[in-house]
Amino acid sequence: MKKILLMNGPNLNMLGHRDPKFYGTDTLAAIEAMVVAYGAHHGAQVDCFQSNHEGALVDKLHEAHGRYDGIVYNPGAHTHYSYALHDAVECIDVPVVEIHLSDISQREEFRRISVIAPACVGQVKGLGKEGYLRALDMLLEEASE
Ligand code: DQA
Repeated sequence: MKKILLMNGPNLNMLGHRDPKFYGTDTLAAIEAMVVAYGAHHGAQVDCFQSNHEGALVDKLHEAHGRYDGIVYNPGAHTHYSYALHDAVECIDVPVVEIHLSDISQREEFRRISVIAPACVGQVKGLGKEGYLRALDMLLEEASE
């Protein structure tokens, strides 16, 4: 069975309440349950982790090294400035797909850049919660090659 880590960064614990125009009305717990169920249906175990703290996310990426077949990662605002998280993604041997609920290329200037994307194997944006499933699909395809 493939092992996938679903990681969400700062403020994503506020989904359901936070700016539904961009992020929808589902809570993070509901999205996690959807991804876990979809993974199980496709032969993958999905573990979930959310933190508002950069260091905790760096630690989790390091722990994932050698333990997971892939990581679905929404870095939240860290996307736009965290070189520490870029480097953490780069230095592990686990493929990471970056996902954003909103289309960051169509929003404020500061959101248009992802400093983490160059270290990832793919990026999904603007598909709402479905984007998490598309990111998981990309990893499951990659893991089966
Ligand atoms: C986000 C986009 C980021 O710019 C923002 O800071 C978030 C959520 C998204 O899922 O669309 O926290 O990553």
